[in-house]
Amino acid sequence: MRVLLTGAAGFIGTRIAARLADAGHEVVAVDAMLPAAHGQDAELPGAVRRVDVRDASAVADVLDGIDVVCHQAAVVGAGVDAADAPSYASHNDFATAVLLAEMFAAGCRRLVLASSMVVYGQGRYVCPQHGDVDPLPRRRSDLDAGVFDHRCPIGGEPVDWALVAEDAPLRPRSLYAASKLAQENYALAWSEATGGSVIALRYHNVYGPGMPRDTPYSGVAAIFRSALESGDVPRVFEDGGQMRDFVHVDDVAAANVTAVESGLQGFDAFNVCSGRPVSILDVATALCEARGDVSPLVTGQYRSGDVRHIVADPSRAAEVLDFRAVIDPAEGLHEFATAPLRGI
Ligand code: UD1
Repeated sequence: MRVLLTGAAGFIGTRIAARLADAGHEVVAVDAMLPAAHGQDAELPGAVRRVDVRDASAVADVLDGIDVVCHQAAVVGAGVDAADAPSYASHNDFATAVLLAEMFAAGCRRLVLASSMVVYGQGRYVCPQHGDVDPLPRRRSDLDAGVFDHRCPIGGEPVDWALVAEDAPLRPRSLYAASKLAQENYALAWSEATGGSVIALRYHNVYGPGMPRDTPYSGVAAIFRSALESGDVPRVFEDGGQMRDFVHVDDVAAANVTAVESGLQGFDAFNVCSGRPVSILDVATALCEARGDVSPLVTGQYRSGDVRHIVADPSRAAEVLDFRAVIDPAEGLHEFATAPLRGI
């Protein structure tokens, strides 16, 4: 197939490009080379064309003969403050709207969209007494006292985390999350209006070689790894018991190839995760152990707005999309501890 890959010079896009080519696809690779992601004077990688997806005529130029678009280009992270809103709206949402319009004009009816677990908001919780509950935000008095788990909104008991499936309520809690959900919504409406197919892949915590170094927009894997690189120790917030799913970038690339080759019709969304939940303290410990002589520091500090637990259910992606991650985080994190990072 002839695949238009946006964000092709990025951490995830680079691995998807290689994997698509290995699978025999013809890749038209484009990237806007935004300074925030690539630095001020980054060179355009050889096979990549400079295209900002917000530019309709540039997008039209590269859509010729394309069978499917794999749309990875986005501004990532949780957002530093409200001043980031126009950037998320412009690069993530306006660009996706332009892409969908140009795909319609070019007769291209298949989209694979990079989405995120952030569309779910705060995850799923079960009270031992009251079953599935939607906990209230964590209280500052609890957090200050070192009580980090949510409480049941009915009886106040501590609640347990549970796997989040794709039909969970979508409640974005950050500018980035709002922009990712809006991308999904535009793509859903486009699919219904045009009869086109959309597969939205909701990535969980992605890590792996070539991950960008720590920036104000980085997730915890890049932060811990960059700390180790500069001789510091990972600083673990709360009690380290926060549960996540860390998925290797090569598994994310494999999920994209599976989606590109899928014959699914209409709109569908899938969790892209390892299926092996891990605590933040265990991630920090695994990285430290792989490097030898360091241990993480559990600070007990907290960040307002952090989600306590969010852990994906991998079963629907396995059953419907036929995607299963193969890299065990225990092995992947060991390799990541010393794998090269990308400078910005
Ligand atoms: C992260 C990303 C989110 C992305 C998602 C899936 C950010 C800010 N968040 O969400 O955009 O879509 O992964 O890939 O990029 N922590 C520490 N020490 C630190 C930093 C963080 O202990 O130095 C803890 C946090 O308190 C939190 C956990 O690690 O409990 C995860 O933090 P982070 O990766 O920032 O956010 P996610 O919610 O996992």
